Amino acid sequence: MKHLLKLLDLSSEEIMDILNLADQLKYETKNGIEHKVLAGKTLGMIFQKSSTRTRVSFETGMYQLGGQALFLSNRDLQIGRGEPVQDTARVLSRYLDGIMIRTFEQKEVEDLAEYGSIPIINGLTDFCHPCQVLADLMTIREHKGTLEGLKLCFIGDGNNMANSLIVGCLKVGMRVAIACPKGYEPDDVILDFAKAYGDKFMLTDSPIEAAQDADVLYTDVWASMGEESEAEERKKVFAGFQINDAVCNAANEGAMVQHCLPAHREEEITAKVFEAHADEIFDEAENRLHAQKAVMVRLMAD
Ligand code: CP
Ligand code: NVA
Repeated sequence: MKHLLKLLDLSSEEIMDILNLADQLKYETKNGIEHKVLAGKTLGMIFQKSSTRTRVSFETGMYQLGGQALFLSNRDLQIGRGEPVQDTARVLSRYLDGIMIRTFEQKEVEDLAEYGSIPIINGLTDFCHPCQVLADLMTIREHKGTLEGLKLCFIGDGNNMANSLIVGCLKVGMRVAIACPKGYEPDDVILDFAKAYGDKFMLTDSPIEAAQDADVLYTDVWASMGEESEAEERKKVFAGFQINDAVCNAANEGAMVQHCLPAHREEEITAKVFEAHADEIFDEAENRLHAQKAVMVRLMAD
C-alpha cells in the first residue's frame, strides 16, 4: 500500500492488517506503551473543508508516533489562489513525509498521488471517506467481536460515507443495505463494485426494509459540506430517512448505532437514539485516532 486514496484500492488483507495494527496501537496507548516509530517525520494536512475529528486525530496521532503535523489551510496555501495541485504535490514532496488532504474532488487527491512522491491520505472527498470507515470497522469489531457475516444498514444520502461503507463492509465479509431517496443513490462506480457481491448488497428507498436483520445502523447528515445551499430542499427530500425507534425495532436485537459525526438531532437521527447509543458513537470517534495512526505507520514508517 503506497497511499490511502479510496478503499477500492485496498485488498481485504490490507484492510484487516490496518484494523489489527489499530487495535494494537490502541492497547499500547491505553497502557502507556510508547510507539514513536515516525520520529523526525512530518505530515502535512491540507484542509479545504472544515474538520474537528480528522484534524485533531491526525495531529495528535502524529505527535504520539513521535512526528509532527502541519495544518495547512486552503485559505493560506497558494493552492487556494490557483497554484496547480501538480506543482503543490512536487513542492510538498521535497519537505514532507506524507500528506493528508480533505477536499472536494477525488481527482485532486489522485493527482497529488500521481505528481508527488510521498504517501497521500484521503481525509474526505465528495466521493469517499476511507479513514472514517476504517475507524467504523474497528469499532464494529470491538463491539461485536467479528465482522464476517454481520449486516450494516445505512440510511440517508448515497454520499461519501455510503460509498466508503459499501466498499469497506463488503471487502471484510459483511452484508450491506442502503436506504436512500430516489435520485440520491451511491456513485455508479460503487454500485458496479457491489454487483459482484450478489445478495450481500441491497439498495432500497425503504429504511425499515433496509434495517431488517441489521447488526449495525449507520447514518450521516442530509446535507454534506459543500451542499449547504441545498439544505432546505434536502430536509424535504430526506424526511423519514432517519434512525429512530421504528428503525431500531426493525433491526436485530442489540444492534449498534454508528454516526460519523457531526450529527443533526431530529434530522438523520433522533436525540433519543443518539443518546442511547452515545458510547458506541464516541468509541467510533475515538477510533479515528487509532485507525489513522495505523494507516500512517503502514505508509510512512521506514
Ligand atoms: N467524521 C469526520 O470526519 O469529522 P470531521 O469533519 O470533524 O473531521
Ligand atoms: N457526508 C459528510 C461527512 C462528514 C464527516 C460530509 O461530507 O460533510
